[in-house]
Amino acid sequence: MSMDLKGKKIVLGLSGGVACYKAAELCRALTKEGASVQVVMTDAATHFIGPVTMQALSGRTVYTDQWDGRIPNNMAHIDLTRDADAILIAPCSADFLFKLAHGATDDLLSTLCLARPHQVPLLVAPAMNVEMWEKPATQRNVAQLREDGVCIFGPAAGSQACGETGMGRMLEPHELLEELVASFQPKVLAGKRVLITAGPTYEAIDPVRGITNLSSGKMGYAVARAAREAGAEVTLVSGPTALDTPHGVRRIDVQSARQMLDAVMAGIQGQHIFIGVAAVADWRVENASEQKIKKDGSGTPQLQFAQNPDILATVAGTTSLSGWPYCVGFAAESENLIEYGAAKREKKGIPLLVGNIGHHTFGQDENAIVLFDDSGHTVLPQAGKLQLARQLVSEIAKRLEQRSLLT
Ligand code: CTP
Repeated sequence: MSMDLKGKKIVLGLSGGVACYKAAELCRALTKEGASVQVVMTDAATHFIGPVTMQALSGRTVYTDQWDGRIPNNMAHIDLTRDADAILIAPCSADFLFKLAHGATDDLLSTLCLARPHQVPLLVAPAMNVEMWEKPATQRNVAQLREDGVCIFGPAAGSQACGETGMGRMLEPHELLEELVASFQPKVLAGKRVLITAGPTYEAIDPVRGITNLSSGKMGYAVARAAREAGAEVTLVSGPTALDTPHGVRRIDVQSARQMLDAVMAGIQGQHIFIGVAAVADWRVENASEQKIKKDGSGTPQLQFAQNPDILATVAGTTSLSGWPYCVGFAAESENLIEYGAAKREKKGIPLLVGNIGHHTFGQDENAIVLFDDSGHTVLPQAGKLQLARQLVSEIAKRLEQRSLLT
């Protein structure tokens, strides 16, 4: 648990919809991340999930009624949001979207949304039947809310509790958690497109055997998530990993180094930043067998190797004309990191290289890194991979900013 919401005060509003069952898990996830959660429910929401459940999960009194006698000054709509860091409505029904878009104040939840201080962001996770979502009236309300600065999370497409299929499912609790955490990150890469490679590659020996390495993909996926949190449009070209795709990131799966190169080159046009985090195999098996190699008495197989293309150097070679994409490489060295890192940056022809301190970082949750650029090197000390990835993203943004000031 990264405690990404430590100290944050979140008002979690539930309006009426079957997705209220997901709000229970969301509430638990928010508190586990360190947030204090104040639940407020509409009357309709209480028909789908009991306030007692939400109270047990949040550890706080749940409010449902504008005329609740327990509040001494009768100003729940003011008191509950004055020190909030965000209001998240999940689920947000079609009716509640309509109320928010029109500034309605006929229940506690809608009233406190309208009465929230201007610096408190309103975040909304719609949940409804596909037909309701697609109706022009709903789309008008959503467009109006976006224009008013409200963040809309989702909805997603898929099978719905009503038995129909389509757009309108509320995002899953872990996706909403990622969105909420992202909403607190500075948007230093807003409007930028970022392409990232991650994970190991897999080079076939025959249809059932191959050569790979111990890269888990954790660092590359963390960089993808951090870039997306910073407002970038992110494409992740990934070798085989067991990781979930960060929410909002487009992922392209590949196996071999050559497939990775093809996927990267197919998508590189228009990218502002390329970050090569993948542990790409330097060699592939040149005499890979189309059929499974059998123990047929003809001795042990003799593998011949051919050198794989260098994806990072290939991309860096395309930047000379436009100056884009800004290329960032990673290096795992087992010795002489400072010397080898600086030399590798020069050899690859890239402005920024990230060296892993200690080569036993594969599969670990933490890391420490050194940044090499043309002014020397900077150490970012041991931290969780997501935290480091966020620092790296901010360092990249700083360098892009400096570059645009220079040109
Ligand atoms: N890389 C790449 N394509 C390759 C090999 C490496 O894009 N065929 C990228 C990696 O994603 C990483 C960087 O190059 O960003 C450094 O990889 P590394 O294996 O440390 O460097 P090599 O160039 O392979 O040098 P060496 O193995 O000799 O240390």
